[in-house]
Amino acid sequence: MMKDYSDLIRMAIDQLHNSYAPYSRYHVAAALLTKDGRVYCGVNIENAAYTPTICAERTAVFKAVSEGEREFSAIAVVAGDGDFLESCDFHPEALPTYATPCGTCRQVLREFCDPKEFDVVLARSPEDYKVYKLEKLLPVSFGPEFLFK
Ligand code: THU
Repeated sequence: MMKDYSDLIRMAIDQLHNSYAPYSRYHVAAALLTKDGRVYCGVNIENAAYTPTICAERTAVFKAVSEGEREFSAIAVVAGDGDFLESCDFHPEALPTYATPCGTCRQVLREFCDPKEFDVVLARSPEDYKVYKLEKLLPVSFGPEFLFK
Protein backbone atom coordinates (compact mmCIF):
# COMPACT_ATOMS: atom_id res chain seq x y z
CA MET A 1 0.00 0.00 0.00
CA MET A 2 1.55 3.32 -1.11
CA LYS A 3 1.84 6.06 1.53
CA ASP A 4 -0.49 9.04 1.21
CA TYR A 5 1.59 12.13 0.45
CA SER A 6 -1.28 14.47 -0.50
CA ASP A 7 -0.83 16.78 2.52
CA LEU A 8 2.93 17.10 1.93
CA ILE A 9 2.29 17.90 -1.74
CA ARG A 10 -0.29 20.57 -0.79
CA MET A 11 2.31 22.20 1.45
CA ALA A 12 4.76 22.34 -1.46
CA ILE A 13 2.14 23.73 -3.86
CA ASP A 14 1.25 26.44 -1.32
CA GLN A 15 4.87 27.67 -1.46
CA LEU A 16 5.24 27.77 -5.25
CA HIS A 17 4.35 31.46 -5.36
CA ASN A 18 7.49 32.20 -3.28
CA SER A 19 9.80 30.72 -5.92
CA TYR A 20 12.14 33.39 -7.28
CA ALA A 21 12.78 32.27 -10.86
CA PRO A 22 12.72 35.35 -13.13
CA TYR A 23 15.36 33.88 -15.51
CA SER A 24 14.25 30.32 -16.15
CA ARG A 25 10.59 30.89 -15.18
CA TYR A 26 10.73 27.31 -13.95
CA HIS A 27 9.23 27.67 -10.48
CA VAL A 28 9.93 24.86 -8.02
CA ALA A 29 8.85 24.17 -4.45
CA ALA A 30 9.72 21.32 -2.11
CA ALA A 31 8.31 20.13 1.22
CA LEU A 32 10.68 18.01 3.32
CA LEU A 33 9.20 15.72 5.99
CA THR A 34 11.23 14.88 9.11
CA LYS A 35 10.97 11.46 10.75
CA ASP A 36 9.06 13.04 13.62
CA GLY A 37 6.54 14.74 11.38
CA ARG A 38 7.77 18.31 10.96
CA VAL A 39 7.82 19.88 7.50
CA TYR A 40 10.34 22.34 6.05
CA CYS A 41 9.53 23.97 2.72
CA GLY A 42 11.88 25.50 0.17
CA VAL A 43 11.76 27.16 -3.23
CA ASN A 44 14.33 27.77 -5.94
CA ILE A 45 16.08 31.14 -5.68
CA GLU A 46 17.77 32.31 -8.88
CA ASN A 47 20.46 34.95 -9.33
CA ALA A 48 21.38 37.36 -12.13
CA ALA A 49 24.85 35.79 -12.09
CA TYR A 50 23.12 32.38 -12.65
CA THR A 51 25.70 30.20 -10.82
CA PRO A 52 24.59 31.16 -7.29
CA THR A 53 21.07 29.84 -8.02
CA ILE A 54 19.84 27.28 -5.51
CA CYS A 55 17.21 24.60 -6.08
CA ALA A 56 14.06 24.26 -4.02
CA GLU A 57 15.11 20.88 -2.60
CA ARG A 58 18.41 22.18 -1.25
CA THR A 59 16.73 25.26 0.20
CA ALA A 60 14.41 22.92 2.13
CA VAL A 61 17.25 20.64 3.31
CA PHE A 62 19.46 23.53 4.38
CA LYS A 63 16.62 25.26 6.21
CA ALA A 64 15.89 22.06 8.12
CA VAL A 65 19.51 21.12 8.88
CA SER A 66 20.28 24.64 10.05
CA GLU A 67 17.38 24.31 12.50
CA GLY A 68 18.95 21.17 13.94
CA GLU A 69 17.06 18.50 11.97
CA ARG A 70 19.02 15.45 10.81
CA GLU A 71 16.49 12.69 10.09
CA PHE A 72 14.09 12.80 7.16
CA SER A 73 11.55 10.46 5.64
CA ALA A 74 10.33 12.10 2.41
CA ILE A 75 10.40 15.13 0.13
CA ALA A 76 7.64 16.30 -2.21
CA VAL A 77 8.63 18.37 -5.24
CA VAL A 78 6.40 20.42 -7.54
CA ALA A 79 7.14 22.72 -10.46
CA GLY A 80 5.30 25.03 -12.81
CA ASP A 81 6.34 27.53 -15.46
CA GLY A 82 5.74 31.23 -14.88
CA ASP A 83 2.94 31.65 -17.40
CA PHE A 84 1.11 28.60 -16.12
CA LEU A 85 1.31 29.75 -12.51
CA GLU A 86 0.06 33.24 -13.34
CA SER A 87 -2.83 31.85 -15.34
CA CYS A 88 -4.05 29.61 -12.53
CA ASP A 89 -3.49 32.10 -9.69
CA PHE A 90 -0.93 29.83 -7.98
CA HIS A 91 -3.53 27.19 -7.17
CA PRO A 92 -3.12 24.80 -10.03
CA GLU A 93 -5.37 21.82 -10.48
CA ALA A 94 -2.53 19.88 -12.04
CA LEU A 95 0.99 21.05 -12.72
CA PRO A 96 2.47 20.49 -16.18
CA THR A 97 5.26 18.05 -15.23
CA TYR A 98 6.47 15.67 -12.56
CA ALA A 99 9.37 17.75 -11.19
CA THR A 100 12.43 15.64 -10.57
CA PRO A 101 15.40 16.64 -8.40
CA CYS A 102 18.71 17.48 -10.08
CA GLY A 103 21.80 15.38 -9.40
CA THR A 104 23.26 17.85 -6.93
CA CYS A 105 20.08 17.82 -4.83
CA ARG A 106 19.98 14.01 -4.90
CA GLN A 107 23.50 13.97 -3.47
CA VAL A 108 22.59 16.51 -0.77
CA LEU A 109 19.62 14.35 0.23
CA ARG A 110 21.94 11.31 0.29
CA GLU A 111 23.99 12.96 3.05
CA PHE A 112 21.10 12.82 5.53
CA CYS A 113 18.65 10.23 4.22
CA ASP A 114 18.75 6.44 4.06
CA PRO A 115 18.58 5.79 0.31
CA LYS A 116 16.63 2.55 0.81
CA GLU A 117 13.99 4.24 2.99
CA PHE A 118 13.69 7.87 1.90
CA ASP A 119 10.79 8.65 -0.49
CA VAL A 120 11.09 11.25 -3.26
CA VAL A 121 7.59 12.33 -4.30
CA LEU A 122 7.24 13.84 -7.77
CA ALA A 123 3.85 15.51 -7.95
CA ARG A 124 1.55 17.13 -10.48
CA SER A 125 -1.22 17.51 -7.91
CA PRO A 126 -2.09 16.14 -4.45
CA GLU A 127 -3.75 13.20 -6.20
CA ASP A 128 -1.34 12.68 -9.09
CA TYR A 129 2.16 11.73 -8.01
CA LYS A 130 4.97 9.18 -8.33
CA VAL A 131 7.09 7.94 -5.44
CA TYR A 132 10.69 6.72 -5.79
CA LYS A 133 13.15 5.57 -3.18
CA LEU A 134 16.22 7.82 -3.21
CA GLU A 135 18.29 4.73 -4.07
CA LYS A 136 16.39 4.39 -7.35
CA LEU A 137 17.20 8.01 -8.32
CA LEU A 138 20.84 7.83 -7.17
CA PRO A 139 22.09 4.26 -7.57
CA VAL A 140 25.50 3.05 -6.36
CA SER A 141 25.82 6.32 -4.46
CA PHE A 142 28.60 7.80 -2.39
CA GLY A 143 27.82 8.82 1.18
CA PRO A 144 29.29 9.69 4.58
CA GLU A 145 29.90 6.05 5.55
CA PHE A 146 32.57 5.72 2.82
CA LEU A 147 34.92 8.21 4.39
CA PHE A 148 37.83 6.74 6.36
CA LYS A 149 37.41 7.05 10.07
N1 THU B 1 15.52 23.58 -10.03
C1 THU B 1 15.06 23.22 -8.80
O1 THU B 1 14.71 24.08 -7.98
N2 THU B 1 15.00 21.91 -8.50
C2 THU B 1 15.36 20.92 -9.36
O2 THU B 1 15.44 19.78 -8.95
C3 THU B 1 15.63 21.22 -10.75
C4 THU B 1 16.02 22.63 -11.01
C5 THU B 1 15.54 25.00 -10.37
C6 THU B 1 16.90 25.60 -10.55
C7 THU B 1 16.59 26.76 -11.48
O3 THU B 1 16.15 27.85 -10.69
C8 THU B 1 15.41 26.28 -12.29
O4 THU B 1 14.87 25.19 -11.59
C9 THU B 1 15.76 25.85 -13.69
O5 THU B 1 16.80 24.94 -13.70
